[in-house]
Amino acid sequence: MKFYITTPIYYVNDIPHIGHAYTTVAADVISRYKRLCGYQVFFLTGTDEHGQKVDKAAKERGKTPREHADSMIDNFKNLWKKLNISNDAFIRTTDERHIKIVREILQKLFDEEKIKSRSYSGWYCVPDERFWTEKEIMGGNCPDCGRPVEHIEEENYFFEMSKYQQQLIKYIEENPNYILPETRKNEVLGFLEKPLGDLCISRPKERLSWGIPLPFDENYVTYVWLDALVNYYSATKYLAPNGEEWWPADQHLLGKDILTTHSVYWSTMLMALDMPLPKKIYAHGWWTVNGEKMSKSRGNFVDPHEFINKYGVDAVRYFLMREVPFGLDGDFSAIALRRRINSDLANDLGNLLSRTLNIIKKYREGKIPPEIDSKDNEMKSEIKGLLSGPTSARAFDSLMGNLQFHYALSFIWNIIGKMNYYAQNSAPWREKDKDILSNTLYTLAEGLRIIAVYIYPFMPETGQEIWNQLGINEKIDENKFKEVIEWGGLKPDTNIKIGRQLFPRVEEKIEISDKGAMAESAGLSEEKQLISIEEFAKLDLRVGEIKHAERIEKSKKLIKLKVDIGTEERQVVAGIAESYIPEELIGKKIILVSNLKSAKLMGVESKGMILAAGTNERTVIATFEADVKPGAKVK
Ligand code: MSP
Repeated sequence: MKFYITTPIYYVNDIPHIGHAYTTVAADVISRYKRLCGYQVFFLTGTDEHGQKVDKAAKERGKTPREHADSMIDNFKNLWKKLNISNDAFIRTTDERHIKIVREILQKLFDEEKIKSRSYSGWYCVPDERFWTEKEIMGGNCPDCGRPVEHIEEENYFFEMSKYQQQLIKYIEENPNYILPETRKNEVLGFLEKPLGDLCISRPKERLSWGIPLPFDENYVTYVWLDALVNYYSATKYLAPNGEEWWPADQHLLGKDILTTHSVYWSTMLMALDMPLPKKIYAHGWWTVNGEKMSKSRGNFVDPHEFINKYGVDAVRYFLMREVPFGLDGDFSAIALRRRINSDLANDLGNLLSRTLNIIKKYREGKIPPEIDSKDNEMKSEIKGLLSGPTSARAFDSLMGNLQFHYALSFIWNIIGKMNYYAQNSAPWREKDKDILSNTLYTLAEGLRIIAVYIYPFMPETGQEIWNQLGINEKIDENKFKEVIEWGGLKPDTNIKIGRQLFPRVEEKIEISDKGAMAESAGLSEEKQLISIEEFAKLDLRVGEIKHAERIEKSKKLIKLKVDIGTEERQVVAGIAESYIPEELIGKKIILVSNLKSAKLMGVESKGMILAAGTNERTVIATFEADVKPGAKVK
């Protein structure tokens, strides 16, 4: 079983930021998971080194493009190392062998008259490296990035992309999983409703010399995209393991910004070459900072090193995969990252491990006790059922196969939540009944052993550390997923090795050392901290009395409330189910933000929000010192 996965190759005009890290981490998560499942994986990443963008960056630094590229690649390689990226190869488009293959492909297309020369006039956007037509530009600017475009008229070579338009539409329609997520597929199909032009694939050397010369006309170099896209194929010819046939790729991962180049340019090129298309193209969303595109010039560039140094590599990997459903855009915020560290990693996972190991140390002399199955309870079989067995493996596999990282992690954290509950309610005070305590401790330790396997693709160091502390002297990645999640793998009598705290808690407030992006991303740059009284007055805060409260089925956190605010009874959904039981809320007087746009949470409408504050342990709702009437304005 083979699996070939790629990231885009990154431009070497600048250093990598969190957006580049995002695609690469996602590809790493899939690669590690596939290897665990027994696949032989070829995971490719690399750098895109030709073209105007890189040429310009080199000139600005007083270097030749080649010198510049050579000096930049370690920024990528070192970051991937620090992020524990397990790529099997790193391609550079300046590799001799890549260049040779690009030239062979171009020659073939030219010989078959699929590339032709003609005169061309159009508008060119340097940062995006692409031409636009008169109709497409907007007020002299690029419709994509908004920067000024240049008018260009010249003789050029064209790939007859238009000839493959119908074939491509048919292919996408017949292969519904070719472009994912579905919304992106529909965008591409929408784009293909308009006539597809031919693709200009050359640049005259006098205008741009930094590129691969066309084999049939050395006065021109290849358009950077054509050179870059071929990397996915060329790498299979000189960088892939075992000299086997690795084309077509199983999965191209990319950001939504470069979906057209992949789904239209690359697919039609492959059709023209009579080569199979990649099996899946998945376009993920973009990370913004305060809703804005990240860039050095805006000063909101999020440097992954800063966060890895502060919080550790696995916290960053976890945050990227957990915070935003893969496919959607997300806003990067340091505060959100710290919250995740404290709640999911320190509180939920970290505590579960330290709690379990400390009880084993105290009551079982640091040895894993035996499992005594007869004296069991429902909670235990639920944990067992959720973690091991073919149904769990299938459910997890389907989430991973569809790149639903966010849901895969919530699936695991739901079990961690249950295990913490089980630990809290079953373990410490069962000492009198030796069998039950042993049983509980075995369940927790064995559950943690399996949890470590599930989280390993996302957080390889943490997964392995859990095994080490449980006293398992094996490498997770030397096992097979399906076998190793079978219940009962942990041997009784194993000596545990309590080690470092998995995730120390971090301060959630803004730190002075948080510069630029971090402060901004939390919306708390100095200027933004202060609001006027008029702005405050926009909030309509009302006293509300809780009349009714019930848990929302299938949700760990949400409670549905009916709140009397004098003039009406409002339905509000609040994330307090882990801190309150519904009954104790009835009759409480709370503060409601009554003019908040309504929203749906787990399908339940919420019209307003109640104010609350978080302590380390729980969320506490704001109430009043003395009796106040529902509907009174809070000022
Ligand atoms: N060199 C081309 C790709 C050629 S692939 C044959 C290129 N390079 S790039 O360096 O500009 O960035 C490529 C990828 O980085 C994007 O597609 C995306 O995967 C990732 N990201 C860059 N910025 C991003 C965000 N702000 N957010 C999420 N990912 C983004 O385009």
